[in-house]
Amino acid sequence: MTEGQKSIKIDPKSEDISTFSNFHQIKQKKVEIFATLDFPKKTLSGSITTTFSYIDKTSKELILDLKGPKIQKVELIENEKSTPLTFTIDLNNEFKDSLGTPLIIKLPEFQNEKPDELKIKIDYITDENCTGIQFLEKEQTISKQYYFMFTQCEAIQCRTLFPIQDTPSAKILVEAILEVEKPYKFLFGGIEKENSYNEKTNKIITKYIQKIPIPSYLIALACGNLEYRKISERCGVYTEIGLGDKAKYEFEDSEKFIETAENYLGRKYDWEIYNLLVLPFSFPYGGMENPNLTFVTPSLLAGDKSLSNVIAHEISHSWTGNLVTNKNWKNFWVNEGFTIFMERKIAEILYGDDMKNLESLVGYEGLLKDIEMLGEDSTYTCLNPDIYGVDPDDGFTTVPYEKGFQLLYYLESLIGKNDFQNIMKNYIDKFKFLSIDYNGFKNVYEDYVKKNVNKGEEILKEIDWEKWINSKGKPFYKFNFESKLGDDAVKLGDKFLNGNGSSDDKKIFVDWHTNVKMYFLKYLIKNIDKVNNDVYNKLKDVLGFKNEHYNMEVMNLWFQLSLKSKHDDFVEEVKKFLLEIGRLKFVRPVFFSWYELQPKESKEFFESNKMVYHPFARRILSMKLK
Ligand code: BES
Ligand code: ZN
Repeated sequence: MTEGQKSIKIDPKSEDISTFSNFHQIKQKKVEIFATLDFPKKTLSGSITTTFSYIDKTSKELILDLKGPKIQKVELIENEKSTPLTFTIDLNNEFKDSLGTPLIIKLPEFQNEKPDELKIKIDYITDENCTGIQFLEKEQTISKQYYFMFTQCEAIQCRTLFPIQDTPSAKILVEAILEVEKPYKFLFGGIEKENSYNEKTNKIITKYIQKIPIPSYLIALACGNLEYRKISERCGVYTEIGLGDKAKYEFEDSEKFIETAENYLGRKYDWEIYNLLVLPFSFPYGGMENPNLTFVTPSLLAGDKSLSNVIAHEISHSWTGNLVTNKNWKNFWVNEGFTIFMERKIAEILYGDDMKNLESLVGYEGLLKDIEMLGEDSTYTCLNPDIYGVDPDDGFTTVPYEKGFQLLYYLESLIGKNDFQNIMKNYIDKFKFLSIDYNGFKNVYEDYVKKNVNKGEEILKEIDWEKWINSKGKPFYKFNFESKLGDDAVKLGDKFLNGNGSSDDKKIFVDWHTNVKMYFLKYLIKNIDKVNNDVYNKLKDVLGFKNEHYNMEVMNLWFQLSLKSKHDDFVEEVKKFLLEIGRLKFVRPVFFSWYELQPKESKEFFESNKMVYHPFARRILSMKLK
């Protein structure tokens, strides 16, 4: 930043307070990404060429979000000609640690009238501190022979790859030309168009197109030595070599989930192809809805499809999130609450109310835990958090998911399933390809109910939107998610807590669906004070936690139970687990429970192993374990 130039401020009333960009003055329409990788140096580099149109022709500068990458050149492209443009980087911005250091490009003074469109090409290179990419060493992959890299742009990490208007308010068409040496496969969240091999350089160049406008947080790249298995005409899965068949089996229901969502929402799947990519263990989420290429954690490979609700969730985002998008991160629940609603609607349609209610119960318990962790007065416990000046990911918990779901479930219960389905159809139809806040939905709901529902006006008067959106702390509305499966879990839980668990109970437990096992363990954790040595030992021996092969959702809860009831006989297994999976949903509570029992050991373990975790997971874990 040259002297005398002012630092960029964010207007607290701006439509999106997580971006520095002047997207209200200049509209970003299309980006063409060129990218190549240097695995040993851990860099992504190339150019990003963006076509903008003026909204306000008096604009003198173009401000883009940027956090980390080095900018080598900025040029204006006119016909075939390129002219260098001057730029500065606001390195001392007050929010440089959370929101980055905006790139300010001086726009040319055109001699005649300003053109409608501007094409600007920027050369960039990331460094090893880039938090939106994880580069994995060969030893961190399954094959141990090839490198791996992947991006995670949601919420505001796209700006750590290259300069962009990094706001979900600005949707863009994207093309990517990606270059990497054989035998690596460089993937992108779009449709593959061309593929060529250059013998001289041993490089493969792949061109992808995303022809539906997407927000920047859905830009996704990944590269590794991969194999592909087709699941159906439009679905398939990429994995590291060796995992393809297992993944194909695990995710076989993808097609069925898409069809169920299509039928419910009355709109065909817009994106043509649905592929999954199974990432290495360090992927910090369960799944990420990148268009045409959902990213998933390998912990879903349970062998029995029992964790496929994550797939139903990511598929649902194809409508709620990727077609109709939250316009800022205060409205994150508009993406996630609606998607949980759809995920559970799919469960309801395919497996019945009982399973859907059980999932809601498991979610509800998670919500209560998160509110307890945050503190009842935390802004992150409401659907409309105050995130001015902070990285929206800092407050990532299940609150927007579960409170958002509960609001929609409540609205459905007031008018009945059929009318609510019509509203969901209208909502998608009205706001497809756009970015909105929750008022968009509120209007569709009110409009429909007034016109079509008996005593509609009275029903609408009952709804206190303000309270639903702004209340902090525990949910004020009590639901009764009736579930026979949930009752079974509680009954067996009580039996163990009363000291009466017996070896006959093992078969019951083993035969349960993962969701029931989870609810059972959550019930015990909720009653951790009653888990004395006898209860603990009986649970451990009868259910066989030392040698039985349970999936990671189950083991994560068992480890929490063991540590929270102040037992250290699973610490070795806990350590192994923490090196086998980097999904925050597991490692955060397990690490933190371990910390409560053995602060010194857990911190030392984190310190010596932290580099295996994703930068985001590392940051969240450091908050306590530093
Ligand atoms: N979009 C989210 C993941 C995400 C959220 C990434 C915020 C970065 C910032 C994804 O769709 C998601 O919700 N994943 C869940 C799935 C679960 C709710 C079924 C997960 O990762 O656990
Ligand atoms: Zn989601």
